[in-house]
Amino acid sequence: MTEAVHNIALSPDGSAVRIIDQTLLPGQLRYLDLREREELFEAIASLRVRGAPAIGIFAAYGVYVLARTYGPEEFFPRLEADCAYLISCRPTAVNLARQVERMRTLALSMSGAPIPQIVEALGREAAAIHREDIAMCRAIAEAGLSLLYPGDTVLTHCNAGPLATSEYGTGLGPLLLAAERGIDIRAYVDETRPLLQGARLTAWELMRAGIDCTLICDNMASLAMREGRIQAVLAGCDRMAANGDAANKIGTSGAAIIAKHYGVPVYILLPSSTIDMTCATGADIPIEVRAGEEIRSLWYEKPMAPEGVKCWNPAFDVTDHGLIAAIVTERGVIRPPYDVHLRELFG
Ligand code: MRU
Repeated sequence: MTEAVHNIALSPDGSAVRIIDQTLLPGQLRYLDLREREELFEAIASLRVRGAPAIGIFAAYGVYVLARTYGPEEFFPRLEADCAYLISCRPTAVNLARQVERMRTLALSMSGAPIPQIVEALGREAAAIHREDIAMCRAIAEAGLSLLYPGDTVLTHCNAGPLATSEYGTGLGPLLLAAERGIDIRAYVDETRPLLQGARLTAWELMRAGIDCTLICDNMASLAMREGRIQAVLAGCDRMAANGDAANKIGTSGAAIIAKHYGVPVYILLPSSTIDMTCATGADIPIEVRAGEEIRSLWYEKPMAPEGVKCWNPAFDVTDHGLIAAIVTERGVIRPPYDVHLRELFG
């Protein structure tokens, strides 16, 4: 593999979570050490750290870093308050709530134990969550690659690479693995309006790995498919419902609808930590709506819309399971009927 991107780690003394500030990419590769609850919250909210698995891992380390600072009297009340605070930051990616809950449940299960012992166990748990994600991403990359042929070109949307996960990523895993093995697989990269995760992050990751990639605006994917330039769509996921409906970055469902029209298969790649069997369908998945400023002006030198214009800025949409040709998890490739197969594997 090309030199790994350590998007999330503990600082050497364990007192901070160290991240790459993704808002500065591709211009600058800068690391930040975050210690305070407000700093951790802000980093997730402003997408300095982003991507479903990554925010879950980050928040797990965050719980550990915060727990180190609690006194014995206040330990559990502060833990409860900080866990609820971190979970409230972003609603769609289930990994955030799931990993924070995992940390909280572990601490509660040890409530009679000495506090230093609980803190140590929390540190081990956060590292385990991270290690598990690395292993799941590797397995997803391997299974996803089995769906592609040498010479294929895929369409990517948003960023589902190492920055959004661990090491191989999910949606980009097959491409990174193919490159390692000398298999020629290329990519068209949706820029992914409005926050440009495709242009800023996916293109950066693919170019670092020496993978042939071509950046397009989101509205160019239809022509690319019509002209036969794309053989598969690879996307990650923020939360999958029990029937296979997949919430992912806004625009994914549009790309999937176009792909269906042109007979291009859509593959959704995700770790099992992103599957939420308590959501029966995509209609149960909460969709984050973000500030209109992100559409009006965020990545422009000057505003590109009249001051005060109303904006609606949903950050995710739901791709109907009927549009998905296969779901790829660490357990392999899953084909329809998804409700049956997801229940068998993860129910
Ligand atoms: O708002 P973001 O950038 O956190 O959204 C991320 C995505 O939609 C990714 O595609 C998803 O988290 C899958 S990452 C493996």
